[in-house]
Amino acid sequence: MCGIVGYIGPRPVTPILLDGLKKLEYRGYDSSGIALIENNRIEVYKRQGKLEVLREELNGREFYATAGIGHTRWATHGKPSDINAHPHTDCQGRFAVIHNGIIENYLPLKEWLISMGHGFRSETDTEVLPHLIEEFYEGDLVQTVLRVTRKIEGSYAMVVLALDEPGRLVAARQDSPLVVGLGDGENFLASDIPALLCHTRNTYILEDGEIAEITPDGVTVIDQYGRPVAKNVFHVKWEAAQAEKGGFDHFMLKEIYEQPRALKDTLSGRIDPDGARVVLSEIKMTPEQIRNIKKIFISACGTAYHAGLVGKYIIEKMARVPVEIDIASEFRYRDPLVDKDSLVIVVSQSGETADTLAALRESKRRGARVLAVTNVVDSSIAREADYILYTWAGPEIAVASTKAYTTQLMCMYLIGLYLADIRGTLPEADRREIIKELRKLSDKVKVILNNCSIIDQFVRDYAGSENAFFIGRGLDHTVAMEGALKLKEISYIHAEAYAAGELKHGTLALIIKGVPVIALATQQDLFEKMVSNIKEVKAREATVIALAMDGVREIEKVADHVLHIPRTHPLLAPVLTVVPLQLLAYRMAVARSCDVDQPRNLAKSVTVE
Ligand code: AGP
Repeated sequence: MCGIVGYIGPRPVTPILLDGLKKLEYRGYDSSGIALIENNRIEVYKRQGKLEVLREELNGREFYATAGIGHTRWATHGKPSDINAHPHTDCQGRFAVIHNGIIENYLPLKEWLISMGHGFRSETDTEVLPHLIEEFYEGDLVQTVLRVTRKIEGSYAMVVLALDEPGRLVAARQDSPLVVGLGDGENFLASDIPALLCHTRNTYILEDGEIAEITPDGVTVIDQYGRPVAKNVFHVKWEAAQAEKGGFDHFMLKEIYEQPRALKDTLSGRIDPDGARVVLSEIKMTPEQIRNIKKIFISACGTAYHAGLVGKYIIEKMARVPVEIDIASEFRYRDPLVDKDSLVIVVSQSGETADTLAALRESKRRGARVLAVTNVVDSSIAREADYILYTWAGPEIAVASTKAYTTQLMCMYLIGLYLADIRGTLPEADRREIIKELRKLSDKVKVILNNCSIIDQFVRDYAGSENAFFIGRGLDHTVAMEGALKLKEISYIHAEAYAAGELKHGTLALIIKGVPVIALATQQDLFEKMVSNIKEVKAREATVIALAMDGVREIEKVADHVLHIPRTHPLLAPVLTVVPLQLLAYRMAVARSCDVDQPRNLAKSVTVE
């Protein structure tokens, strides 16, 4: 989720680049940089920290360049630092490249380039790009970039500045957004429209595989086969605030819709080419150490805790290791039996939650190894953990956590499969089957996002409710907890989750005519039990919206509304089941005119105990 800007035209480029990067500030970032051609050299200025740090670095300098590129970095590979900031250059400083995305096969490419004599300075995946361009360049930058795109795998929006071709910028796009801004005698590039709006509303939206050559007088686009592409002008009607959300009304909705991309990115590079096993180079434990783990503890807060509940279930099921899970604010006060044979997994989107950081420190004090699952590179929790498994969800801005949750689940599956493989507790055929299904989750989330109209009806009928119950069994119960949290924290409806079998032990007293009950029934082995529980609440005249897998028809005989999700392995169902619940919470909050992105009393990161 980095920010990209580029300009070529008659005006001094530096203020245009800096202002463009400023407009991308909402994306969150940890470093920034620009590259331009001055005195027949490519000059690169880049600094860790906020954009102001770079601006101060450039203050007072006179630049005459009228073409250049700029970048704000949201670190994925390589911690935030001056040297890891973009732009990156080749050995001779003839090419500068900025990039948003993940080059999945950067390690073998880097090894090959080093064997060809290239020297690397950073820890990033991006730096392979300028060196590949340097290796392949024979005088035509567009053809060189086309050749490079055939060598790399993964997602990219890249822009290249070449010393030998100062009159053009070349850009390429695959799975990461890139927009060309069309000016009069000048042209622009940006990863997001807000960076363009003060210059132009006429744009070309680059599609996957396309490569654009941008000069002051024109833009030509070719496809992945080198064939010319006739682009239609897309006239942007959004105002800046709307554009920051990619056209969505709220960051939360934008982030719900970013989940397919986030899931794909979080999985990328972590499955071996044969699809047989998970590869987690981040967990630097020997197989012996992994086989000697006596107990695993998971500790987190809020939504991250709910992801940990799924993790407990998955790791015990796959790796056959006992797992205890605690809310972080309770963990260290119960004198947990953590010792040197324990592995503690802390989960935190922000990597700054005080209670979770305290759980990490308590675990280390007791001699345990700590694995952090977090979304923010170089966050406090990342810095203090022994091992880090990053979710590649990109900045999550809405207080209500959505894409962080589903990518945390992805990490739980990866950890479970990885431990099971080394401990020999899961047959290879089962492992392959689950990996195959993991790879399909991204597309299945897309299907759900395009088929949730039933929620609108439910919202119309129940936006006025003051109570709601979420019930489920097994993994569905853990997702019911997440669904209840989403609904209560942004719509202010008093929502509670219950293990469905628990209703008759008290809660049933609250089930009265018309109260909405969301029943999750994706777990085949518990389905009949869930049907009985739905009948229980129906007998008290509750209104039930049930979630079940495609093809499960009998549920329609008992529930008032049924929302089907695409079939998947039962262990993976939480990734899909949660999406309608996120949308339900979102639409309820909108219908109740709540502040969706900044709900009352809450903060995005709770850095106090
Ligand atoms: C979730 O929607 C809430 N915003 C909150 O529960 C959050 O998950 C919790 O505060 C933990 O935050 P973290 O993942 O950054 O540690």
